[in-house]
Amino acid sequence: MFGILGLSVNFTLPIIMTEIKRIGVLTSGGDAPGMNAAIRAVVRACAFNKVESYGIYRGYQGMIENDIVQLNPRKVGNILHKGGTMLKSARCLEFKTEEGMQKAYENLMNLRIDALVVIGGDGSFTGGLRFAEKYNFPVIGIPGTIDNDLGGTDYTLGFDTATNTVIDAVDKIRDTALSHNRLFFVEVMGRDSGFIAASAALASGAKAVMVPEKKVSMKQLMAKLKESRESGKSSSIVVVAEGGKSGNAYEIAKEVQEKGEGYDTKVTVLGHIQRGGNPSVKDRLLACNLGVAAVNGLLDGKSRVMCGEINNQVVYTSIKEAITQKLKVDNRLLELAEILSI
Ligand code: ADP
Ligand code: F6P
Repeated sequence: MFGILGLSVNFTLPIIMTEIKRIGVLTSGGDAPGMNAAIRAVVRACAFNKVESYGIYRGYQGMIENDIVQLNPRKVGNILHKGGTMLKSARCLEFKTEEGMQKAYENLMNLRIDALVVIGGDGSFTGGLRFAEKYNFPVIGIPGTIDNDLGGTDYTLGFDTATNTVIDAVDKIRDTALSHNRLFFVEVMGRDSGFIAASAALASGAKAVMVPEKKVSMKQLMAKLKESRESGKSSSIVVVAEGGKSGNAYEIAKEVQEKGEGYDTKVTVLGHIQRGGNPSVKDRLLACNLGVAAVNGLLDGKSRVMCGEINNQVVYTSIKEAITQKLKVDNRLLELAEILSI
């Protein structure tokens, strides 16, 4: 605030915005179906806006090692429908060091890349944010993780496809469980997040679900199984998130077996099958929307934000908020699964 002739005047410093002419894009952390569709959308939105695009291979590792190539709409043809990421992904410890970041910055400077799109999860965003702050470099995030655990978006890329993969597997397991009157424990991904487990449990009609966010005691589980058996159920499925508070699927199954109540228990760990496969329609649409939104956001001068979709609208949320206000599994999902598993 500044006073001139008794008037107060608000002075805001002009934001010196350099025109963005070259955008780099990378995928980092755990891959997720829909990442390819997002890369394609970023590259094509760049071309549409007469901006050059550069693909950075193996996440921050490629940024440090200068593994960077110029892309164009034809180079991202035929990837929309494919799982994985054509740019490959990596977990790169060197990027956490000052020297690593400096090398990465110099490589971007040499190629005159002046903004970055990071497609990944909370770890990748943490790295991107540190980089943006350290070098005052424009960075925008696209949420890409099957875990669905970021704030600022209803869904992350890959979650829908991964959950459909789980459902497909559980439906098949149900057939054999029923034939043999067995109790199956199906372990799904989600080290810190029970989204896949809770959604899959509800959508596949599982008897119980164990998520990292909520402890289910052995006593509660045994009571549920007993009640279910007494009501006439001959087989059951229990979905266990890998980061569950009650142990992994093998440990839980062993404990149940050791109770000597006569359950014929089996364990299936779905593992990385959940990270692959062609993206669902929902993930493709989300990728198209967010890829374009990321480029538009950068061209509008946005940085240090993640673009997400809330109620079908594009929303830009600060990366800080997106990673600190992580989405926790919806209690309603757990409630519904409980009610309907009666
Ligand atoms: P995700 O993005 O799926 O959560 P990770 O947590 O493995 O995956 O993070 C991916 C990469 O992001 C790490 O390998 C590292 O290169 C980078 N990263 C994560 N945290 C930081 C940090 N604090 N500083 C710099 N880079 C980081
Ligand atoms: O973050 C995505 C995720 O698939 C988690 O659900 C899982 O715990 C983890 O990555 C597995 O990571 P990795 O592929 O390195 O074993």
